[in-house]
Amino acid sequence: MSAPDNLITFGHKLEPKDPLSIEPDWMQARLPWIEKALEHALRLPSGGWYVLAASREIGKNPRRYRVNSEDYVAWRDGGRLVVAPDACPHMGACLSDGKVREGSVVCPWHGLELGGERHGAWEPVTSYDDGVLSWVRPGPEQDGVTRPVIPQRPSRFLDAVMRKEANCEPTDIIANRLDPWHGVHFHPHSFARLKIIDQTEDAITARVVYRVFGRLGIEVDARFHCPEPRTIVMTIVAGEGAGSVVETHATPIDPARTTVIEATLATSERPQFQAVVGALGGLLRPLVRWRAHKLWVEDAAYAERRYELRRTRR
Ligand code: FES
Ligand SMILES: [Fe+2]
Repeated sequence: MSAPDNLITFGHKLEPKDPLSIEPDWMQARLPWIEKALEHALRLPSGGWYVLAASREIGKNPRRYRVNSEDYVAWRDGGRLVVAPDACPHMGACLSDGKVREGSVVCPWHGLELGGERHGAWEPVTSYDDGVLSWVRPGPEQDGVTRPVIPQRPSRFLDAVMRKEANCEPTDIIANRLDPWHGVHFHPHSFARLKIIDQTEDAITARVVYRVFGRLGIEVDARFHCPEPRTIVMTIVAGEGAGSVVETHATPIDPARTTVIEATLATSERPQFQAVVGALGGLLRPLVRWRAHKLWVEDAAYAERRYELRRTRR
């Protein structure tokens, strides 16, 4: 169907819906609503869990991650995820510079082998692998939440995880996604024709055309909500790919430095979906990651600007 803006949309057709407002976007995008929705998210329990990385990223070689000003080394003992302080208990060498042998990390300086067990003051921290993302809980259990708060995910999906760092705090990342209005203005290469069709205290749904290529796009209803303080989820609630989610997780690295770890779990009701994922998953995954990264180059600038404004006005 051709629209006045020359877009050609394909895929599932949506029931017509009126926008909640016909005001221009700059009038609809109200900071008090964004701040309130953010406050709501910040009150939710997280259990003290932080997303560390894509599950796929952690394998047989030790890798280093920094969370909340602490360095961790992560590796796999067989399939089991192990996360521990990245400082050898002997003389402090970086264990992430070592190797993994028979499930234990071997210190590069003097060969001490450390596995999933405590060694003096050195002890692995609680971790969890949900199959797409790896999580870490550096401290004790909080609020009776024993596992990470994982939003509803589709039963079959193609997953791709993007990682990007930004000079801001996790709240700035979440606030960026609580402002869907900026999409068509700030990312015209990816979004067109956005209107808000539902808005509550803590969630917002936009009908938006996602540009697939040039003038070709798909129209979907995308709902944004926060299941915990450092996560915002976009769920396609109607249209092509309904049930797909994009989970944006913000993990603090240091004060004013945050990692964005964004997992896209794309699904489809179409019968060919599973076959396409099986045949082309390896090709599609980098493409999805590339598009997510492109958006986050821009959104990191937005979040950093927001942080800068907050910092100078404190
Ligand atoms: S510093 Fe690790 S074994 Fe000596
Ligand atoms: Fe954005």
